Amino acid sequence: MKALVLSGGAGTRLRPITHTSAKQLVPVANKAVLFYGLESIAAAGITDVGLVVGDTAEEIREAVGDGSKFGLDITYIPQERPLGLAHAVLIAREYLGDDDFVMYLGDNFIVGGITGLVEEFRATRPDAQILLTRVSDPRAFGVAELGPTGQVIGLEEKPERPKSDLALVGVYLFTPAVHEAVRAITPSWRGELEITHALQHLLDTGADVRCTVIKGYWKDTGNVGDMLEVNRTVLEDVERRVDGETDASEIIGRVVVEEGARVVRSRIVGPVVIGAGTVVSDSYVGPFTSIAENCRIQESELEFSIVLRDSSIDGVGRIENSLIGRHAQVTTAPSVPSAHRLVLGDHSKVQIHT
Ligand code: TTP
Repeated sequence: MKALVLSGGAGTRLRPITHTSAKQLVPVANKAVLFYGLESIAAAGITDVGLVVGDTAEEIREAVGDGSKFGLDITYIPQERPLGLAHAVLIAREYLGDDDFVMYLGDNFIVGGITGLVEEFRATRPDAQILLTRVSDPRAFGVAELGPTGQVIGLEEKPERPKSDLALVGVYLFTPAVHEAVRAITPSWRGELEITHALQHLLDTGADVRCTVIKGYWKDTGNVGDMLEVNRTVLEDVERRVDGETDASEIIGRVVVEEGARVVRSRIVGPVVIGAGTVVSDSYVGPFTSIAENCRIQESELEFSIVLRDSSIDGVGRIENSLIGRHAQVTTAPSVPSAHRLVLGDHSKVQIHT
């Protein structure tokens, strides 16, 4: 069995971060989202992984390499444009050969991994198996309709009037039967070859498509709110480890201070992770915050946020609920004139407290 991991895409919902960087590499508790997925594939006993990459191919290659650090053998599959999830299957035809495979969306996060699921698929081997989870607003997802005995009878992509609250989770198990289906469908109104249409084609041609409704936690980290929420969930499980320098600062609860980080005259209330080379001084860092490597946090307060590497936050009071990109600088303005001074990238979002 192989895995097909999708790490291309446009990532429009995570702009401006995705103008300069792959969304699958945004860190959750200081580790790229994609790495959690690759680890769960390795844990399920799969070693051959086709990694579909787009505009951010170079950065993904640099981060993932040949996959050996995950115990994986990675083959890169360039996708010229994000033409849909089923398009990714189409271009991976040669790589996948006649093997069964798990398709995993590289920006999705599933607590508890996929081992049980892969084992179940190997044992029962339907033509395809999908994962579903109940969501409050299914209109933003692929949605499944189930029959009286729980069998899948229909699938729709982002329906205006959803027939259920069961959304497709970003992990799919396929036999080679899917190859015929992805060749048979045509692009949707948004110009993409939709995997929901390929699954519907399988159903229409009498294939056995089964589903598992997962109760565990799943999130698509497509937007900032979801990203912060996944970060919160992962931080819930960190164990305290203070390897960096901490003077007489108060370090409360489950806090990771990496070696080479420094905390000076500050109060850190976990769960929090502070990356190597970062200095936090005269500041408060509150729960569910991840600060990556080589940042400077000075005379500020930070809570429920993610700060990417090489950024600085200096003298600005309290920041909450924020995602701050790489090499960003958040500082005070001169006292006169009393004005905000901004240099914002395209699609930036700033909320100013007045
Ligand atoms: P999506 O989140 O559906 O799409 P996107 O990355 O274009 O994001 P947005 O909607 O914010 O513009 O993609 C799910 C995953 O699949 C993500 O990891 C990107 C990847 N993907 C591909 O590799 N190729 C594709 O053609 C598409 C559509 C997505």
